[in-house]
Amino acid sequence: MTKEAAERADADARFPKELDRVATDMEALLDRLLGADALPGERTRPARVLEAMRYASLAGGKRIRPYLAVASAEMFGGPRERALMVGAAVEVVHCYSLVHDDLPSMDNDELRRGRPTTHKQYDEATAILAGDALLTYAFDILGRTDTHPDPAVRIDLVLALARASGLGGMVGGQMLDLAAEGRFAEGVPQPLDRAATETMESMKTGALLKFSCVGGAIVAEADQAARAALARYGTAIGKAFQVADDLLDALGDPETVGKATGKDAAAHKATLVRIMGVEGARKALADLVAEAEAAVAPFGPRADMLRAAARFIADRTH
Ligand code: IPE
Ligand code: IPE
Ligand code: MG
Ligand code: MG
Ligand code: MG
Repeated sequence: MTKEAAERADADARFPKELDRVATDMEALLDRLLGADALPGERTRPARVLEAMRYASLAGGKRIRPYLAVASAEMFGGPRERALMVGAAVEVVHCYSLVHDDLPSMDNDELRRGRPTTHKQYDEATAILAGDALLTYAFDILGRTDTHPDPAVRIDLVLALARASGLGGMVGGQMLDLAAEGRFAEGVPQPLDRAATETMESMKTGALLKFSCVGGAIVAEADQAARAALARYGTAIGKAFQVADDLLDALGDPETVGKATGKDAAAHKATLVRIMGVEGARKALADLVAEAEAAVAPFGPRADMLRAAARFIADRTH
């Protein structure tokens, strides 16, 4: 085995343990952040919506976004506690996006992370409100001095997460996803070409993954060149993540994946699998992993775990 291959195998072997460590820390942090006591400026925390928020965000999920925030910050010596706050902010946005994505008026799903979706467990109104409150809470988290003592850093984080989450990011991508199904054209699918599909996927899924990486660099006060490199890495893994998700929908089984599969084709969703077939999508995925690995090459061995994360994202089975 070459030295490079051995280092790569070592990083791949370490990755699941590191991911697990972040997942454990994230569970504890979200549990604390979503406590029952009202904060200054809040009146009370109504039990039903708080319970639904906790249902949607605790006990499940790979926590890959917090992982990316922590690993990115770590490269620049950023304190883990601050990176975890950034990870918590992006994770609650992600959890809200899943709650709303599963609603009957969106993808109409009943299984998520191996359990009933939030609107099934509670009801639609509660799920909508829990999602709204999770989104808002992300900015509460970023606004705290625990995230960073310097308000300028906090503002950078708020702007970056707002832009990744909203109109020109995740929400915009979800709109393009539904439009391609034919939702707003009397049910007539509006197929997207490869470039338009990539744009849609980069927005609906890629934007939050990219923020996770850039947010880690921002909270660690990395310089602009480093942030740009992490943005390139994050863009590539963001695309890769959705291609892998689309392959899991096409090929995975619901038991392992923890959500219904085989739905994208039935709903005429725009996916790279639809355009390029399974083999074509696998090739695109391999190219994206190579692109991500190359983006962090300047950081040398410090980026070993980010390279391992890129490979995990492509090879994941759930
Ligand atoms: C699923 O995201 C939805 C997409 C953006 C493709 P994840 O696969 O990260 O879901 P969890 O958090 O691990 O359940
Ligand atoms: C979802 O894409 C992206 C989000 C913003 C939630 P999908 O609709 O493919 O995600 P899954 O397959 O339901 O997790
Ligand atoms: Mg969807
Ligand atoms: Mg969905
Ligand atoms: Mg999917």
